[in-house]
Amino acid sequence: MENKALITLFGAAGDLAQRKLYPSLFKLYQKGYLGEHFALLGTSRRQISDEDFQQMVAKSISGIKETEKGQAASFIKHFFFQSHDVTKPEHYVVLKDRLAKLEDQFHTTGNRLFYMSMAPQFFGTIALNLKKQQLLTDDGYNRLVIEKPFGRDFDSAKKLNDELSQTFQENQIFRIDHYLGKEMIQNIEALRFGNTIIESLWNNRYIDNVQVTLSEKLGVEERAGYYDNSGALRDMMQNHIMQVVAQLAMEQPVSFTDSDVRVEKIKALRSLRVYTPAEAAANFVRGQYDAGQNTNAYRDEDGVDPHSNTETFVAAKLLFDNYRWSGVPFYVRTGKKMADKFTRIDVVFKKPLIDIFANPRMQSDQSLKSNILTIYVEPEAGFSLRVNAKSAGQGFKTTPVDLKFMQDTSTKEEAPEPYERLLHDALEGNHTNFASWSEIAYAWKFVDVARKLWDIEEPQFPNYVPGSMGPAASDELLARDGRQWVYRLNR
Ligand SMILES: NC(=O)c1ccc[n+]([C@@H]2O[C@H](COP(=O)([O-])OP(=O)(O)OC[C@H]3O[C@@H](n4cnc5c(N)ncnc54)[C@H](OP(=O)(O)O)[C@@H]3O)[C@@H](O)[C@H]2O)c1
Repeated sequence: MENKALITLFGAAGDLAQRKLYPSLFKLYQKGYLGEHFALLGTSRRQISDEDFQQMVAKSISGIKETEKGQAASFIKHFFFQSHDVTKPEHYVVLKDRLAKLEDQFHTTGNRLFYMSMAPQFFGTIALNLKKQQLLTDDGYNRLVIEKPFGRDFDSAKKLNDELSQTFQENQIFRIDHYLGKEMIQNIEALRFGNTIIESLWNNRYIDNVQVTLSEKLGVEERAGYYDNSGALRDMMQNHIMQVVAQLAMEQPVSFTDSDVRVEKIKALRSLRVYTPAEAAANFVRGQYDAGQNTNAYRDEDGVDPHSNTETFVAAKLLFDNYRWSGVPFYVRTGKKMADKFTRIDVVFKKPLIDIFANPRMQSDQSLKSNILTIYVEPEAGFSLRVNAKSAGQGFKTTPVDLKFMQDTSTKEEAPEPYERLLHDALEGNHTNFASWSEIAYAWKFVDVARKLWDIEEPQFPNYVPGSMGPAASDELLARDGRQWVYRLNR
């Protein structure tokens, strides 16, 4: 059904808007979800006309196949531009006037969505001015979509949340974590709660450990300035990894509605053990990449402080103090300049209590391997279940085989991009795939202990070579527990 909405986009000339937001909105338009009753007012400081802005949008969607002649031409007619400095209160007066006119023109029934796609230091200012200058509607809905990062630590995140809360209530705020828009991340719930054979084993009786890997092949590229002030802990772990972990660890929600899912994710994160500094030192690993063949060390990248102690890799062991997960470690890791670009989750099951095939009379020199459920998030999407089977032939040997499902290319192409899905959900008012304040707060409290420790202790950087899976200490984190990463390279 067609959605009626007036979108105000702050940062409309920026990279994210052009690369992700306009193409995603165009896909929603092509599918008929957005139609006649939708308009977008883009803002940033530069002076450009509506026509030039429409050409900018046209360029950003030029790579998308048109399903009907003229769709792009009619789509861009819904886009308008207002030069606007978010720090100048008087500019909001002009903005208010334009919004009222667009509302009349497109009959958007008072539904207003404000999207902050700009540097986070402006988020609070924009929200406060929206309220002060009365840009919120009394007729339809007022929603705020906000990009990451949400703070630099718990204190700054709380300050930001307090600022936003002066204008928007929690149920009006949609905090983007684009990982939650990914097909296979959403499939975690389907796999768990749609399958008795999986959910009935999803606990510390049958699961030995859980592993989450977000591996990037590239270095910092053009984001060096931002990244050097952030690092892997803040940029990847506090948000994406913690959200994935919450979905893996949560209890079954009463229903698959946003409010019920949130309750369970928050409960899961509440039971995550927050380490003491000494425990954090033992359970977190940080790394920074060295120079490789034809590649710079992190400290030699353009825009990076040559003495930088920013981590480009982080691994950690997480423990939940609750009935389901007590004693089951969740090992997580993420890094740049790693062996390959992929995201996967490996759920390692316990071995059978008795291995009857290890009997010497069976002439078997092999022991049973663990069952492993692997969820491939990207680049391919799918999952596999490793089971032990008999090797064909004389004698009796077992061998692990994979029961595998991978999405075919056409299904993958049809699946919406994360931003398309998330924009759709925000327009629908569905919070399922957005992070709530409580989740963010618990995640910060967990990572802040390591961050504070790392801010005072001098690291031994660089400590891993490009093309590897991070520093040796990451392997040792598991080896210490008698375990190893399921995905590993031979050192
Ligand atoms: N780019 C990505 O892939 C990506 C991915 C994940 C998250 N994010 C997040 O998304 C947000 C936007 O990122 P981005 O890469 O698109 O940023 P960007 O390219 O720097 O764009 C930000 C825009 O803000 C405008 N701006 C700056 N100061 C302003 C002011 N005082 N008043 C009004 N407009 C102002 C700039 O345009 P003018 O110079 O014309 O004012 C610029 O077009 C950030 O929070 C970022 O962390 C980005």
